[in-house]
Amino acid sequence: MQFHQLGTAGPQVSAFGLGCMAMSGMYGPADRAESLATLWAALDVGVTLLDTGDFYGMGHNEMLIGAALAGRQRERVQLSVKFGALRDPAGAWIGIDTRPQAVKTALAYSLQRLGVDYIDIYRPARLDPQVPIEDTVGAIADMVRAGYVRHIGLSEVGADTLRRAAAVHPICDLQIEYSLISRGIEAQILPTCRALGIGVTAYAVLSRGLISGHWGAAGTNRPGDIRALMPRFQPGNVERNLAVVEALRAIAAARGASVAQIAIAWVAAQGADIIPLIGARTRERLHEALGALALTLTPDDLAVIERAIAKDAAAGDRYPAALMAHLDSERVGG
Ligand SMILES: NC(=O)c1ccc[n+]([C@@H]2O[C@H](COP(=O)([O-])OP(=O)(O)OC[C@H]3O[C@@H](n4cnc5c(N)ncnc54)[C@H](OP(=O)(O)O)[C@@H]3O)[C@@H](O)[C@H]2O)c1
Repeated sequence: MQFHQLGTAGPQVSAFGLGCMAMSGMYGPADRAESLATLWAALDVGVTLLDTGDFYGMGHNEMLIGAALAGRQRERVQLSVKFGALRDPAGAWIGIDTRPQAVKTALAYSLQRLGVDYIDIYRPARLDPQVPIEDTVGAIADMVRAGYVRHIGLSEVGADTLRRAAAVHPICDLQIEYSLISRGIEAQILPTCRALGIGVTAYAVLSRGLISGHWGAAGTNRPGDIRALMPRFQPGNVERNLAVVEALRAIAAARGASVAQIAIAWVAAQGADIIPLIGARTRERLHEALGALALTLTPDDLAVIERAIAKDAAAGDRYPAALMAHLDSERVGG
């Protein structure tokens, strides 16, 4: 495993992180034993960065990670936790709350569920339009000073919010979608991160499995799989997006790699300040994804890939319209 520092203010983390969201129902039911085996397999090969959110399965994901870490050396992992998304008992998304008192309450509960006494990177999942980012970051900074949090991160915010937040406390990373078909960050957000010394943890590097080479036009009918609602997976769009995969398939074959490995390696090749999160929930997918670590794309490879897949190749937005409206990162000038 290789390691990189996450931003100028952040910890050393493994070159790939494990995103644990799909282990808690967000992409349909997951198998607990396989999820635990996947977590252990990742830890065993040296993955140290584990990403979760308190709202993934309404606490389920944190308790799962807590179980996986039992008996392991806590100091050897970096726990990255998102908070602020509100859900009801049926799982509906009912808003966002990042007021200072909500920050401290959510943190207290996350520490209990994870079974740890500090969180390495704590971040609001979205910008709360009712709460100045200075207040939210200020409250997390209080928790840094009290020893409950080591570093502060952000998620899906734009350049202006990054600057305002970094003026309050060092921000170690921005978590944001970045893949061959989601390249919006390249215009302003990534340059701003670089100017401020903020790293990037890139999610949906496979566009939620769409460009993994394993997705079929038949889609998914697994209960709770949020991908069924995502614009890029809708009939009419999905066929166009799968055409991107066919272009990647030829390139992958020429390199003796899989489509997923090429897509992940492309993100990793964009800079040592970018840590791809691997969204695997099975050991099979994990091992495929980790194969991208050994794949160094040459400038010629990158040129071939970028000629084959235009920056705006995706058909459909990243999220449904109502959720796009919550993305500070998608605001004009963001
Ligand atoms: N900050 C945010 O707003 C935000 C949003 C979303 C996610 N995240 C974080 O980012 C992590 C990754 O996001 P994501 O799951 O959407 O990313 P992804 O890596 O693009 O998609 C993961 C899905 O792709 C499929 N897949 C196919 N081949 C794979 C392979 N070789 N390796 C891994 N997955 C493969 C799997 O679906 P099947 O299991 O169905 O095959 C898997 O669940 C999440 O776990 C979460 O921690 C953050």
